[in-house]
This record gives sequence, C-alpha cells and structure tokens, in this order.
Amino acid sequence: QQGDPVEAPAFLAASYACQRNTPQPGHNTLLTAALSVLAESAELNGDEGRGLAFRRSEGLLRSLDRRVQGPAELRGLPCLGDHSRRVIQDLLENGVSSEVEETKSSPRYKAMKLLTGIFGVGVKTAKRWFTEGICSLAQLETSGHSLNAAQQAGLKYYTDLNQPVSREEADAVSVMVEGVVHSVLPGARVTLAGGFRRGKMSGHDVDFLITHPDEGKEEGLIHKIIACLESRGLLLYQQTTRNTYRESAKGAGRPSSSMDRFERCFSIFKLTNDSSPEDTRRAQQDPERVRVEADQTGSGGRPWRAVRVDLVVSPISQFAFALLGWTGSKLFERETRRWAVRERSMSLSSHALYDRNQERYLRASSEEEIFAHLGLEYVSPTGRNA
Ligand code: CTP
Ligand code: MN
Ligand code: MN
Ligand code: MN
Repeated sequence: QQGDPVEAPAFLAASYACQRNTPQPGHNTLLTAALSVLAESAELNGDEGRGLAFRRSEGLLRSLDRRVQGPAELRGLPCLGDHSRRVIQDLLENGVSSEVEETKSSPRYKAMKLLTGIFGVGVKTAKRWFTEGICSLAQLETSGHSLNAAQQAGLKYYTDLNQPVSREEADAVSVMVEGVVHSVLPGARVTLAGGFRRGKMSGHDVDFLITHPDEGKEEGLIHKIIACLESRGLLLYQQTTRNTYRESAKGAGRPSSSMDRFERCFSIFKLTNDSSPEDTRRAQQDPERVRVEADQTGSGGRPWRAVRVDLVVSPISQFAFALLGWTGSKLFERETRRWAVRERSMSLSSHALYDRNQERYLRASSEEEIFAHLGLEYVSPTGRNA
C-alpha cells in the first residue's frame, strides 16, 4: 500500500506558484478538477481564504511532472493543507470524494454557479438573489429585478457566453482586433494575453493588450477602437473605463488593490460562424461577400455567436507589467505579488514594481526583467497555468 516516498525535485519544494513551471493541463487532472470545485464553492460562499487554500493545493498538483499514484507520494510537498490532503487521499483510494460530489450536487452551489455564470453578475448579487429563492434564469427573468446593462447582455447571450471559446475563434477575434487597431492607429501593437497566451486550447473570453511604441500615442485609443468596432457592426455590448493610474510617491498605487486602472473595455463581440482567421481576413477586404456566405452557412437560424473580449490599453513604459498582469493565471498573479511583498519587500501591480527598501520604482521593458528584479527564475507564459 505505502510506496517509497519519492524524493521531490528541488522545484517541487517551492511553495509559491511563481517559483514553479506549470504547464497545461498537467498530469493530475482528476485531483485538480476536484480541488477546483472545492475552491470555487468556497469562493462562491465569499470565503476567500478557504478558496485560496484549495487553489494553492490545486496549483501545486498542476505543477507536478507525473501522475500521483498514492498518498505516500505527497510527503514533503508544500501547499497541501490537511483538508486538501484528505480529499486527495479519498480520490486516490476510492476514485471519488464524497465531499466533492456533495458540493457539486448541492442546490446552493448549482444556483450560485448558474447565476454568477451570467456576465455582469458577481458573488454578492448572486447570493442576494439565491437568498430570495432565485435558482434559475427563468426565475430571475420573472422576478421583476431590474438588471443593469451588463447583466441584460449577460442574460441575452447566456448560452453563447457559457460555451467555451476555441483557439480558432480566438485567432479569428485576433484578426478582427488587429484590423481595427491598425486602421485607427498605425504602428500600434496588439498582443494576445490571458489563457490563450498561456497556451490553453479554450477559454471563457479572449484578452488583448494594446500599446504603441511612442509613449502617449495610446491615450484615448480605446474610444477610437470602440467607435471603429461599432461602425463595423462587430460589437454586441461594451463597457469602457478610462485610465486612472498615476505613479505616486507612496508606491505602486494601493498595493492592497488588485484592480488595475488602465483604459479598458469589457465587451461582447459578434463573431460570424464561418470566421476562421482566413475568412475574417477576407471579410476585412470584402465585407459584403462574406456576409452573404455567413448567412448561408448559419446554423440554428443565427449565423454568428457572442464572444466575451477584454481589451486593455497600456502605455509602452508599463507594457511589461501589464503583460505579466494580464497573462495570468489568477493564482500565478496572486502568488507573484505575494512573493514580491513577503520575500522582497516590493509591491507589484500591472503598472509598476515598487521597491519599498530603496523607495523607488524599478523599470522593466520585458517580463524577463521583472522576474529578475524579483529574484525569480523566469517562467514562460505556458508555464504559468497554476
Ligand atoms: N485580470 C485583471 N483584472 C480584471 C480581470 C482580469 O487583472 N479585472 C487579469 C487576471 O488576473 C488574469 C488575466 O487578466 O491574469 C486574464 O483573466 P481572465 O480572462 O479572467 O482569465 P484567463 O486566465 O484568461 O482564463 P479564461 O480562459 O477563463 O478567460
Ligand atoms: Mn481570459
Ligand atoms: Mn475564467
Ligand atoms: Mn478576461
């Protein structure tokens, strides 16, 4: 029953996710999927601390370069709390964890997942509705609650937005975004960020970071992009926020705030069914022809689908920080910031890195330089899937 304890390679002793290489999808998907359910359940209960503990366990297991066969192999591994270890042991011995199964089938978890699955609905709102007995979209629609614009769009496109975005769809969106950005500001650069930059094959949205090599040229760019997207009929919904970031003598903003302050747009794109990257490229040269083709190939009477897209504009001087911050994963980001504060007395945001001992900002023009400032070995985007 008890195998020999396996000597853990040095990197496995690393207790911060940013010290490890974490490829996608990992060798322990049964275990990580189970821990992810428990993390999500805690997060949906508003229990951030508990959620984070499960996320750290999940992240550690994702980074292992082989499949865990028995509990003995967990000896000496960091990040695994008692609760996580119990769940893992259950899964290894019985192939199933009763706690995970009970969580998944609980009415609360199911309702909260459904309600927070609506774009524009966070945990607090979902909780309020659930307390009032709302457990389905139909109940929400007849409840008489007035929904804000984001939530109305979220409800309207619920099915589409809960269908994963494929790599091919992301590439098609990239072509659309690049076309529009280059037409409103030649020389601007568009970089795919988020899960797709980490090499994921699907995602819940597509994330882009936009900049221009001449500092200042990017100011007000988001509004021009939105206007152009709208004139081409490519947007179903958008909410734009202006840039509110200023460097201050006190350090990298409020270090406690994980929200960044770039010009950005949370949007929903209208993506035609037959929009392979090639077709999309053609569409930009000859919009009329492709529109006709799309109508013919449309299934279910609708030749397009809704896709969530995040657009973020960064000045070139902050680009490396913005890229690191918008590539994720969320746990990788949290852990990098935690490492910075606890191990280096630095505060890291998507805008800057502030050294509290030297009382100055540390500049960087690449992600590699940021890792070097932090005293961390460089982890490539595809290794940040913690
Ligand atoms: N992010 C952020 N501020 C927000 C939303 C997101 O800084 N208000 C960052 C996250 O920290 C993450 C990146 O943007 O690093 C991408 O977030 P998201 O699109 O939610 O997740 P992905 O990792 O791309 O995964 P998914 O496939 O689900 O989209
Ligand atoms: Mn994303
Ligand atoms: Mn997501
Ligand atoms: Mn996103």
